[in-house]
Amino acid sequence: MAKKQVKKPSHHYVCHVCGAVHAKWAGQCEACHEWNTLQETKESSSVASSLPIRAGRQICLEKLEGESPLPPRICSGIAELDRVLGGGFVPASVVLLGGDPGIGKSTLLLQAMSQLAIQKKRVIYISGEEAIEQIRLRAKRLGIVSHTQVELAASMNVADIIATLESEPNISVVVIDSIQTMWLETLESTPGTVSQVRACAFELIHTAKRCGFALVLVGHVTKEGALAGPRVLEHMVDAVLYFEGDRGHQFRILRAAKNRYGATDEIGVFSMTDRGLAEVDNPSALFLAERRGNIAGSAVFAGMEGTRPVLLEIQVLLASKGGEGVPRRAVVGWDSGRLAMLLAVLETRGGLKLSGMDVYLNVAGGLKITEPAADLAVAASLISSVTGVPTNPNEVYFGEIGLSGEIRQVPQEELRLKEAAKLGFSKAVLPRKVTKTTRTNTPPRALEDIGIILHTIGHITDLVALKNNKTENNKTA
Ligand code: TYD
Ligand code: MG
Repeated sequence: MAKKQVKKPSHHYVCHVCGAVHAKWAGQCEACHEWNTLQETKESSSVASSLPIRAGRQICLEKLEGESPLPPRICSGIAELDRVLGGGFVPASVVLLGGDPGIGKSTLLLQAMSQLAIQKKRVIYISGEEAIEQIRLRAKRLGIVSHTQVELAASMNVADIIATLESEPNISVVVIDSIQTMWLETLESTPGTVSQVRACAFELIHTAKRCGFALVLVGHVTKEGALAGPRVLEHMVDAVLYFEGDRGHQFRILRAAKNRYGATDEIGVFSMTDRGLAEVDNPSALFLAERRGNIAGSAVFAGMEGTRPVLLEIQVLLASKGGEGVPRRAVVGWDSGRLAMLLAVLETRGGLKLSGMDVYLNVAGGLKITEPAADLAVAASLISSVTGVPTNPNEVYFGEIGLSGEIRQVPQEELRLKEAAKLGFSKAVLPRKVTKTTRTNTPPRALEDIGIILHTIGHITDLVALKNNKTENNKTA
């Protein structure tokens, strides 16, 4: 006898870190290997599949060629924020702002909204975390109460929020703080779960696109640094910004991880003061503020963050390996794989003895470097540390190091040197110019005019020799 088919509501389990869907519960997500991240979700997928498909309408196909105006921008007037956004908020676009709790997301947005309100833009700040009184108190502390017309609401109910936003005219920017507190009654799950976060974001994004205001969603990050909730949120929005920083340090970095309307390598630097976030327009001075000149194992790297040069101090400490086993390599602010490679190159091509040493590397100030151009500064710190001879405190370094020990060219030499000159550095160690026929079309470098003595080097052995004072200053390339 054939069994009667009973349609059960389908239960499945969604990983709240990566969004992978599993049929059965498990302690570990098979996709991202995180533990205890699966959450049960009930979704009547059978309902969707049993609906008849409506007859579609024909969509209009357009030619690729043709004029589209650049998106208009809503500038907050906070230059560090506007630059990371690619020039300001874009109407009908959605920005996700992630960061650790307490890092200053709410503070930044409240300050930005007040600046917009001063420009007579209509801005709405909706908090699901704080009561109106708390927000007012914060605004008072920030000194932005008297002249601001920011409209506030404390609500977690997405349906109410959407009804309000749809009925209010001329809104420029809406902030939702935070998406994890938002809640749709139609779903069974509690706020913060994958299905709630996803559905609430979807509804809010849809409203922003329909009504034409810029939407900012605040998102909490997990201790691993990923945005809590499914990664799918990152795909739904136009820009993902992270607000980072060490709570032990006063400065905060705003970084774009994705931006459909701008570059992703820009950073904004702020410092947290007792009156809110202050813009830092000269980050190099801030990062180098506590540098002690004559210590072996430190070198200044002339780096680039997006379009902006930033000088950073690289610090290295070598200690003879205690006991048996593999030596320790502890890295803060740089890539540990890159350090391992550099140590091997210095040992094999530069003749330094480093394999028996524990190596500790730190980028002072807490910034993370992603550029390969930092290789030369790290190598200089390592050489200085191993020889015990401090690097020249008036010298900066930049250049990539290849596996054969060659020093390779990096972009934006002029900007790096100008920044170094601005901060009072008088010497730079940089890659030797490659004189291949393919490069002859490039205009001659006018780097000598910047007012910095240039040591151009071609191989890691040149750097070792330079540090041993065996090389004469070679002023030109
Ligand atoms: P907040 O913006 O609430 O962080 P988030 O929204 O990311 O959770 O920032 C809270 C922290 O910032 C808190 O620890 C106190 C500090 N803070 C200041 O140092 N100065 C200030 O003027 C303000 C408003 C906050
Ligand atoms: Mg907050």
